[in-house]
Amino acid sequence: MSEQEGGRDSFSNKFGVIAAAAGSAIGLGNIWRFPYVAGENGGGAFLMLYLLFILAIGVPVMLSELLIGRKAQLNIFGAFRKLAPGSYWPLVGIMGVGAAFMILSFYSVVAGWTVEYTFYAIANQFAGESPEGIKAIFDELTAASWRPVVFMLLFMALSAFIVRSGVKKGIERYTKVLMPLLLVILVGLIFRSLSLDGAMAGVDFLFRPDFSKVDTNTILEALGQAFFSLSLGMGVMATYGSYIKKKESLGKTAISVSLTDTLIAVLAGLAIFPAVFSFGLEPGQGPGLVFITLPGIFNQMAGGYYFAIFFFVLLVIAALTSSISLLEVVVAYFVEELKMKRSTATWLAAGIMSALGVVCALNGAVFSFFDRTSSNILLPLGGLLIVLFVGWFLGKQVVRDELEADGRVAFYFRWFVPVIRVLAPIAIALVFLNGLGLLRF
Ligand code: PHE
Repeated sequence: MSEQEGGRDSFSNKFGVIAAAAGSAIGLGNIWRFPYVAGENGGGAFLMLYLLFILAIGVPVMLSELLIGRKAQLNIFGAFRKLAPGSYWPLVGIMGVGAAFMILSFYSVVAGWTVEYTFYAIANQFAGESPEGIKAIFDELTAASWRPVVFMLLFMALSAFIVRSGVKKGIERYTKVLMPLLLVILVGLIFRSLSLDGAMAGVDFLFRPDFSKVDTNTILEALGQAFFSLSLGMGVMATYGSYIKKKESLGKTAISVSLTDTLIAVLAGLAIFPAVFSFGLEPGQGPGLVFITLPGIFNQMAGGYYFAIFFFVLLVIAALTSSISLLEVVVAYFVEELKMKRSTATWLAAGIMSALGVVCALNGAVFSFFDRTSSNILLPLGGLLIVLFVGWFLGKQVVRDELEADGRVAFYFRWFVPVIRVLAPIAIALVFLNGLGLLRF
């Protein structure tokens, strides 16, 4: 980041913006959460709903958030306060900050597992283990009392360290190299996974929609996953938007970030499900799915030992670039609204999140409550309020100015306004009310 008007930080260029925003979007949501939620919700039909929601709802919500942030040049709470003084809108910002606490507390637990897996991979712990043996290692790891806590704390400390010293060059520089590398390894995994015996059943599971599996809950889960995976509905994109210079195109950013994120999720599914079926595992087994499947694939690959280490390191990094974005929402709020020093703000936020993280690490019920409530309720609700705010409150002229700030007549403007005024809010509201059982159809 470099200095922008008013002494505020900003990303240095277009690539930096995309790397940071995509770094936030791409993470455990794609590689850990997507396969396990898709697995629990019947596969293909879930994937179709998910893709539909990304396009019809995800992209417009992302653009709305980026726009709020860049217009206001403030944290998520401050942005609403500035753009809608004297109203209740800033409460949406408070909800976002709350969601950041909730998400990072369980997210850091899963990230802790990836750190621990990196060490296991180095020690060649999975070699020669059967799928059942690997499952036993995972169950033991997560049921242990202190180990998940220690690795969660380690991960949180790492995130806090990066955020404290500024997201800036570190993140920009590393994500640019590391994200493409993750893609390459993922493609390698897909080849191996597809060539396993009985792999096609997995491809079938992922791509053949079986609508008899769809119920109201599936629809809500797909919406929740779309929000979670794109980091939407709680202020990450608004906060990052506030660091984007006026000359960058927000529309292009929203589209490229959404497409890349979706691509990675689909590729992760394509790497996981063929192996799940080939190993005779259960696709609906929940949060452990990826952790039980992946080591099995590595075991069967030439050079699997090195691939495994490499892969888990990259997964830790993908998790880091997401967790710092969550932390940044809170830190920007603490610094700008509560006038704290950046380092105090960072350690305070990370401290509270760690305390909640300990609870999530030790109690599976709290873990899944945080996981489900944030994705399926807080994020869609936040997203709904955000599009309504931009569509109906902010005014067409402001929207137009932001979308055309790069000097070109924005093609985005034409479709964006009707979408955020009507289509996206109705779609989110219907899915949401239906999923909560408040409206049945
Ligand atoms: N999108 C991130 C991922 O897929 C998780 C995340 C959710 C980050 C919400 C920020 C906000 O891993």
